[in-house]
Amino acid sequence: MVTEDLTDSPEGVARAAEVLRGGGLVAFPTETVYGLGGDARDDRAVARIFDAKGRPRFNPLIVHVPDVETAREFAVFDARAEVVAAAFWPGPLTLVLPLRDGAGLSPLVTAGLETVAIRVPAHPVARALLRAFGGPLAAPSANPSGKVSPTRAAHVRAGLSGRIEAVLDGGPCAVGVESTILGLDGAAALLRPGGVAVEALEAVLGVALVAGGSASKPNAPGQLASHYAPGAAVRLGVMEPVAGEVFVGFGPSPGADLSLSEGGDVVEAAARLFHVLREADVLAGPEGRIAFAPVPEVGLGRAVNDRLRRAAAPRV
Ligand code: TXA
Ligand code: MG
Repeated sequence: MVTEDLTDSPEGVARAAEVLRGGGLVAFPTETVYGLGGDARDDRAVARIFDAKGRPRFNPLIVHVPDVETAREFAVFDARAEVVAAAFWPGPLTLVLPLRDGAGLSPLVTAGLETVAIRVPAHPVARALLRAFGGPLAAPSANPSGKVSPTRAAHVRAGLSGRIEAVLDGGPCAVGVESTILGLDGAAALLRPGGVAVEALEAVLGVALVAGGSASKPNAPGQLASHYAPGAAVRLGVMEPVAGEVFVGFGPSPGADLSLSEGGDVVEAAARLFHVLREADVLAGPEGRIAFAPVPEVGLGRAVNDRLRRAAAPRV
């Protein structure tokens, strides 16, 4: 793939929006760091974000929207959320809020959670792109997994050239560190320090923030061994299911009830994973059992297997 270099001209922004509408990935500037954007409603685009970054796990991603009105379409705002949004948006603050019913986001964006991380970036090019695209953008930092976050288009190109459709150059990022993440699905919690000072948040909220990531309410739920386990028991690496098991295939899988990818494509398997887990759970019923065919430990297959191992782990 040849990565297009786009300038922050009206034509460049329009082209970036067109690439996104076609399911492509565009790295774009925000005031914090460059984000790797894809349509947050499109399973395949979101799966490709993980693939391009070489992320071994499906961590939930931040959804970027142009304004608070749009944010309310995806998340449920309480009075505290309204107050901090009015004070700090647009800007380097991400809110974790209850996911709105029927929000239409890919479950890969939220990692199957009932909450969503959402923010309104301040960078004028990010705002122009969001308006031109007209939808929510999932966007982690635009760097290969485990590498330093990019604050210039050249950093993005060095890490992701040939793996994404386009880079929209909006100059160096002013803030240079990621957004502060504030959890508001319970007591106000600092989930990640970042571009907005904790003191400023506490002053506006009128309460001290609790530290995120306590054992009872982890901020990185994917790290809890059996999180998001379906109701049914799960067995992995199965070539031949036993009677009564719902069999989920990968590649040619005779007798499969469902498939992660009939063509054996790990990116498709990632895109379908959360939908298939839910469907299999419904088919199996509460006391049922689900058997998964082996998925190769390559590319996004590693992230799929990581998630499946959690689904199969002994329940806490
Ligand atoms: O400044 C930023 O926030 C940049 C720019 C591009 O906007 N984006 C960014 O995204 O840093 P990312 O994907 O690298 O960070 C997402 C963080 C992760 O630490 C993830 O655990 C947390 O947000 N997160 C996302 N959804 C969450 C949720 N529902 N509950 C708790 N944490 C969540
Ligand atoms: Mg990052």
